[in-house]
Amino acid sequence: MLRAKPSPLYSATYVAVWGLSSIREKVLVIDYGGQYVHLIARRCRELGAYSEIVDHTALRGVRLTDYSALILSGGPKSVYDTNAPQLDPLLVESGIPVLGICYGHQLIAKAFGGEVARSSMREYGRTKVSVEEESVLFAGSPREQTVWMSHGDVVLRPPEGFRVVARSENGLIAALESTQRPIFTVQFHPEVKHTENGALILENFLRRGAGLRDRWRPIDRISEIIEEVRKSVPEGERVLLGVSGGIDSLTTAAVLHRAIGSQLHAVFVDHGLLRSGEAETVMNVLKAMGLSNVHFVDAKSRFLEALRGISDPEEKRKVLGALFIEVFKEVASGIGGVKYLAQGTIYPDRVESGATGTTTSVIKSHHNVGGLPKELGLGLIEPLRDLYKDEVRDVARALGLPEHIVRRHPFPGPGLAVRVVGEVTEEKLEVCRRASAIVEEELIKSGLYDAVWQAFAVVGDDRWVGVKGDEREEGRVVIVRIVSSEDGMTADWVKLDHELLDRISRRITNEVYGVTMVCYAVSSKPPSTIEPC
Ligand code: XMP
Repeated sequence: MLRAKPSPLYSATYVAVWGLSSIREKVLVIDYGGQYVHLIARRCRELGAYSEIVDHTALRGVRLTDYSALILSGGPKSVYDTNAPQLDPLLVESGIPVLGICYGHQLIAKAFGGEVARSSMREYGRTKVSVEEESVLFAGSPREQTVWMSHGDVVLRPPEGFRVVARSENGLIAALESTQRPIFTVQFHPEVKHTENGALILENFLRRGAGLRDRWRPIDRISEIIEEVRKSVPEGERVLLGVSGGIDSLTTAAVLHRAIGSQLHAVFVDHGLLRSGEAETVMNVLKAMGLSNVHFVDAKSRFLEALRGISDPEEKRKVLGALFIEVFKEVASGIGGVKYLAQGTIYPDRVESGATGTTTSVIKSHHNVGGLPKELGLGLIEPLRDLYKDEVRDVARALGLPEHIVRRHPFPGPGLAVRVVGEVTEEKLEVCRRASAIVEEELIKSGLYDAVWQAFAVVGDDRWVGVKGDEREEGRVVIVRIVSSEDGMTADWVKLDHELLDRISRRITNEVYGVTMVCYAVSSKPPSTIEPC
């Protein structure tokens, strides 16, 4: 079920290569392995500058002249480590304006002859900096400001031709600007919300430093995306789309419906691992969209049977993936003449599945799930492949999807199979489903649902002795997981009000049969992941 590994930006395996022709100004974010790479790219887009990510090892395959600005990301290495990524001279020779962030700042300083060294003073977290000279990056921002630092190395001496425009409260160089070329560097992370003027600093780079003029908005691309789908799918050819109930696949359905109408065949497989009431909700939405061909497959018992006795999460994913393909094949051959498979792949899926090279390690195989199996021999259509989740939400709204769908929390492809730890049984699934529904209901009631990234219940095989009346009774342990996040790559556990936690806990033990203990998950990502397995 691994996706055929695409080349850095566009893959030959895709029949539909989205041209992005209307975008004249693009920013290229070069990934040196930093944890905030996606944030950098997203911030640029929020500021109206379309951005793409490429791994530093794949740079030579990219046409730099397509880009109006380059941003070098942070990274975990020291510039002097063996095998540490170095600055590709092409980047500087290109003459394209560059912003180096953290590792990027150190790389540029070293490449231009400055001195970089391990610092005895590690700056981490909120740090005060003061702006020492008039500068492009800090234009319009106060002299003293708080930024987010995370580094061990520092630039001790700036290269010739660079001036120090800001220093940290510890006297360390915080920002440099070249006096001769459009090269700017910052030791801190402007992409992180804790940097109080981060958006302004990035905007200053993009608009003043790199001279970008256009304002990109995802919804401006809808008609173009629709046009591209029409061009990719010849008239009369059938396209199969698996709808999971998540925003990505439903938005893909809406786009395809507009583009190719009855050539679209949407398939919704109820694998029995869905949230409470999800099958009905999804079918209603598809009906309301007016889709001509919706195929509902009740495969609950088939999936449960296939999962029987399997505890290892990766094994579960493999089994589910294989069964999905089987079901899809059956549906496709039932329909006949299907030539294309559409998927709701979005930009982070591609980056995380290795589309930008080798630096980011694959943590769970789900990042590769959804690839087009070669043996199906179908062309692949992924209309949302260049968009981030919140951009997909904008497109969904513009296409008229109901607000409760647009706002619904992300849900993993393998569904409750990764929220039921250990073997998946009907009983554990029911506990997980009902407890999750309570968590969601309570968050909606308290107005917090939209403020968090995901909120759900987890159940494993742990037991806890409870008291029901005078009886001693062993029951299940439910873990409540509520996290905030910007893109799922990192996440914080939500410091929930105790009254609300208490309400959730009481309701779960009272209303969900067999539960005697509720715990709250208080680990962030990293070190934990969001889902338990
Ligand atoms: P983790 O657990 O890796 O989750 O911190 C990050 C985001 O990915 C979702 N997730 C999955 N999505 N298949 C998916 O399609 C999966 O197997 C899977 N596992 C996790 C998770 O819900 C979170 O939003």
